[in-house]
Amino acid sequence: MEIWKVSEKSHPLTQQVIQVAATRLKQGELIAFPTETVYGLGANAFDEQAIQAIFQAKGRPSDNPLIVHIAESTQLEWVVPSDYQISLGMKRAMSHFWPGPLTFIVPVNPRIAKSVHPNLATVGVRMPNHPIARALIQLAQCPVAAPSANLSGKPSPTTAQDVLEDMDQRIAGLLDGGPCEIGVESTVVEILDTHAVIYRPGGVTLAQLERVLKMPVELDAHFITQTATPKAPGMKYRHYAPRAQVEVWWGAETAVAERMNRRAKELQQKENGQRLIAVMGTEEIVKQLDFSNHAQWMPNASTHYAEELAKALYHQLRHFDHLGIQHIFIMGVDPQIGIGLAVMNRLQKASSGNVHFI
Ligand code: TXA
Ligand code: MG
Repeated sequence: MEIWKVSEKSHPLTQQVIQVAATRLKQGELIAFPTETVYGLGANAFDEQAIQAIFQAKGRPSDNPLIVHIAESTQLEWVVPSDYQISLGMKRAMSHFWPGPLTFIVPVNPRIAKSVHPNLATVGVRMPNHPIARALIQLAQCPVAAPSANLSGKPSPTTAQDVLEDMDQRIAGLLDGGPCEIGVESTVVEILDTHAVIYRPGGVTLAQLERVLKMPVELDAHFITQTATPKAPGMKYRHYAPRAQVEVWWGAETAVAERMNRRAKELQQKENGQRLIAVMGTEEIVKQLDFSNHAQWMPNASTHYAEELAKALYHQLRHFDHLGIQHIFIMGVDPQIGIGLAVMNRLQKASSGNVHFI
């Protein structure tokens, strides 16, 4: 696999490098690239063979559809049927949130390769807010199907190093644009006549969507009942999971610290003090811990915890696995505020539901 370092889009050398990557992508090869959410594993969405290669490289179940990426609004015509009428709500949302972490579910144009949308008449489409991603699509002049560039089941990659770890020997190239800004994937939404439905919470929040769409926005039923089949097929798989056992608490900091202390004691007693524990939490929590943890992550106290956790989460989960950590204790965030719902959704999955509200 070739690795191209591309930090500044305007640099002439960078443009040449992206051109090389774009040409290879258009011809059917797999190219990983940075977006503002996570790294994507890109292929020409018109090329059925290239799309099948994505599923192979990731070990992805073939019934899990991919998101198609475009660089400007007019390229939506590559993705939707020629007679498709963009609704007023969608127009508003596109002009407000694109480029950005929002994926729309729309009817699909027959030119898009079948494996992009297995057994579905719809497809996800997103315009990422990242200069390298957009330059790549623009130079390739084709829609770019791109799931997150991780092996299926592992945490999504948020640095080039994470991509390398999973995809070396499996893909043609990787554009290294440094760490991703947001750190969790895009919001997946379908806009209907009277309301909209979120299939995967992400970088754009429900409240933001309601404000712009001027219609009610609901969460897909499976978030609420935990039993209904999710509309985004990807949501049904165990996901984002490290090897270690993850436990999450959310509540007042003192109460969370107390629970972590109690749980650590329990584990050490049960396992004769042999357990390696890592902690992710605020400085306030970490200060109150009375066990010696093997590794810890906390953001600078002056920053917003939820946003910093979103940005750091996947990479830290990978890092803790490298250290051989067996238990990861995480301070959760308020699911009602901002990116909180997306973060708690990923924590639910990483912990197989081991999330405690206290
Ligand atoms: O932020 C992101 O969206 C990243 C970057 C690379 O853009 N991509 C990403 O792709 O997260 P992936 O494949 O890991 O997740 C795609 C999600 C899955 O949950 C999938 O089920 C859902 O989007 N999806 C795609 N097409 C769909 C469709 N037609 N109907 C319902 N859900 C769909
Ligand atoms: Mg993914």
